[in-house]
Amino acid sequence: MFEQLKEKPADKILALGQAYREDPRETKIDLGVGVYKTPEGVTPIMRAVKAAEKQLWEIESTKAYTALAGDPAFTDAMVGLVLGDAVARDQVSTIATPGGTGAVRQAFELVRMVNPGARVFVSDPTWPNHLSILAHLGMEVVNYRYFDSATCAVDFAGMLTDLEGVRAGDVVLLHGCCHNPTGANLNMTEWAAVVELLNAKGALPMIDIAYQGFGDGLEEDARAVRFVAANCPEMLIAASCSKNFGIYRERTGILMAVAQDATLGKITQGNLAYLNRQNYSFPPDHGARLVSMVLTDADLRADWQAELEDVRLGMLKLREQLAGELQRLSGSDRFGFIAQHRGMFSRLGATPEQVERLREDHAIYMIGDSRINIAGLNSETVPILARAMIDAGV
Ligand code: LMR
Repeated sequence: MFEQLKEKPADKILALGQAYREDPRETKIDLGVGVYKTPEGVTPIMRAVKAAEKQLWEIESTKAYTALAGDPAFTDAMVGLVLGDAVARDQVSTIATPGGTGAVRQAFELVRMVNPGARVFVSDPTWPNHLSILAHLGMEVVNYRYFDSATCAVDFAGMLTDLEGVRAGDVVLLHGCCHNPTGANLNMTEWAAVVELLNAKGALPMIDIAYQGFGDGLEEDARAVRFVAANCPEMLIAASCSKNFGIYRERTGILMAVAQDATLGKITQGNLAYLNRQNYSFPPDHGARLVSMVLTDADLRADWQAELEDVRLGMLKLREQLAGELQRLSGSDRFGFIAQHRGMFSRLGATPEQVERLREDHAIYMIGDSRINIAGLNSETVPILARAMIDAGV
């Protein structure tokens, strides 16, 4: 049977990491995969997470299964973090999932189960794994314009025009904050226009929020998702704890479905638990437990928020430094967008050839579409990147 298997193309983001590791040059700079790094290049365990882990080791007395939908303490705490009080809790059904990717996958599976003909509208560009999972599930994808490569900002007119094509029962996938890969985000007026259009068409919004706290702050980054929840009859939310809790390998995420009322919420909840059972049975618990411990303990939570805020401000400072350096070197404001973008990523607007030159001539690794991970920089490497970009003709 295995002889019938065909080679699968490597995931571009993960393959870049491999190429970086194999590069012997000491000056190499990794701006690839979306993993936070300190200026020293370390991905730390956050203080509050470490403290919770220590407590957990002391108090955990069993490794028996939790609930099929995940530990309610985790799902409740995450609903609070993401949705606040935007909707009544009994309208929200939840499952803990292996990472944000698990939540995305389960959301698509739910949609396919309900409406096998549903089309999923995705931003052009989007996180490549969205496309890969949809293709794997055999679901139809429709792109909507999102990024204006001339200005490196959102092409909102193009986006609205393309979303005019949605039909009742279609799904529109949106990034809640810190758009991956561009770093360009909608403002609240634009979110309101999107909501109005989706409601008029009867399409279902699905928000992927993997970087809450990395953009404008924990509350600010949740504004859009809360607005959609409060103003659309139904929605899906895939949230990740990988980045904002720094627990990447623990695979901790959550899928939330907001229903119109508690009765539909209950049925949806049963279906989500069913999907967990079919795909992997019980979701992983260790990371989820750490998250609920951090979120429900006032001291741990305050320390986590403080550390997350330092991470966010550090990335903002790097953005400003890079934009400033490029302004000085290019004598123009054309890189000002880097300081306007939010989150871990910016798409620089370099051509694939320029990206290649940056890798070959300067050992600077970024995704082929010129997405950089801001956290891969530090104050010393920012000027190196800026000079290299000018040298490569960006
Ligand atoms: C990224 O976009 O780099 C991250 O979400 C990591 C991944 O799994 O691709």
